[in-house]
Amino acid sequence: MAQARLAIDGGPRAKTTPNIPMYPGGYEIGEDEKREVCDALDKKYIFRYYMPDGLTSKVAAFERCIADMCGRKYALAVNSCTSALICALEACGIGPGDEVIVPAFTYWSSASAVLSARAVPIIAEVDDSFTIDPADLERKITPRTKAVMPVHMRGSACDMDRIMDIARRHGLKVIEDNAQACGGTYKGRPLGSFGECGCFSFQYYKIITTGEGGMLLTDDERTWIRAQMVHDSAACWRPDRFAPARFPGELFFGYDFRMSETAGAIGLAQFRRLPGLLERMRRNKARICAGLADLPAKGIVPRRQNDPEGDTGICVMFMVPTVELCEKFVRALAAEGVDVMHPYHRDIPDWHVAHHWRQLIEQVTPTPEGYPFRDPARKGAPVSYDNLCPRTADLLGRAVHINVPPQMTEQDCDMIAEAVRKVADAYL
Ligand SMILES: Cc1ncc(COP(=O)(O)O)c(C=O)c1O
Repeated sequence: MAQARLAIDGGPRAKTTPNIPMYPGGYEIGEDEKREVCDALDKKYIFRYYMPDGLTSKVAAFERCIADMCGRKYALAVNSCTSALICALEACGIGPGDEVIVPAFTYWSSASAVLSARAVPIIAEVDDSFTIDPADLERKITPRTKAVMPVHMRGSACDMDRIMDIARRHGLKVIEDNAQACGGTYKGRPLGSFGECGCFSFQYYKIITTGEGGMLLTDDERTWIRAQMVHDSAACWRPDRFAPARFPGELFFGYDFRMSETAGAIGLAQFRRLPGLLERMRRNKARICAGLADLPAKGIVPRRQNDPEGDTGICVMFMVPTVELCEKFVRALAAEGVDVMHPYHRDIPDWHVAHHWRQLIEQVTPTPEGYPFRDPARKGAPVSYDNLCPRTADLLGRAVHINVPPQMTEQDCDMIAEAVRKVADAYL
């Protein structure tokens, strides 16, 4: 059969339907969200704390939804996942002189939260699951390491069995960054339920959204109380806010990261949409992947899943044999009409790959001396980000990423598979 002419060479496009933006829950905002927000407004009380008698907090109800989904005892809603990560780190007592191991593929606030807690992020490779490589994590542990932050990147679980085993053996805290995989599981267990703390994002581009928002989950009451201290400088949740500390380390100055009742109201409506969103994204992804099933014979390697069953289905990722080919592949696929991107391209700045985190590599912070990177109290060799994670650069440099919005039709999915096959036939 004659090979189809690629769109990039003047042929017809394989995908002719419009691309749908990747705001899974945000794109579905409707009557339910309006009803919940109006209900909050009608009460004329949209602050989360000090609820007048007879009213109940929507933020508290939203906290219970996420905590119950994950089988966690305690939840704390905040204004972003970055705030949740800062609360988690500070609640776990991580601070000056400590190191926290973070993967090289994550949104950079996983690392910036560590710096905000005045500790130093150490960057570990990802493996072919595009999540933290447990072997490199273990290699990067030093006497200063206090925690690891597994990031369930692009909707899919880290290797939690190995990570929890390493953490146990080395006495590390585990703070899960589950910003991108709300509703995902690992071997049947909800993501966000593994470590000392699990942190979520409800920012607009996430699976479900409150516009801006985040949440911290934990099973440890004292960690939760300390996290509350971080998220609210007035400590206004306390039964008696002027009472002395109930345990050593309870009282200290925090920030103001609270979630408002209007955000909580949207969260409640969005939470009800979560099962349906996941179901549709997983179905769409399965349909696209079924259309690509024979491509490994051509040298296309699908992203390895630590647990395919628990994947949220937000994207399709695969690798091609070389970085050069990947650049051609992505250009050609975009010309075919597919919403496609490079997770990592050395010349295209991106917030999600450590090789582009200039502030980290140059160790720049708000103070001229570069604290906490350059901390006179630091024990051991100065931190260095030279020769950062070459394996991650290679794996992600050969990777192709396609979003899978829940709103896609079967025709959209089939056209995407057809476009990938067309480009693979031409280039591989
Ligand atoms: C992996 C990861 N961690 C943390 C964050 C930060 O979330 P937020 O914008 O809610 O602070 C994001 C958001 O993009 C993310 O993708």
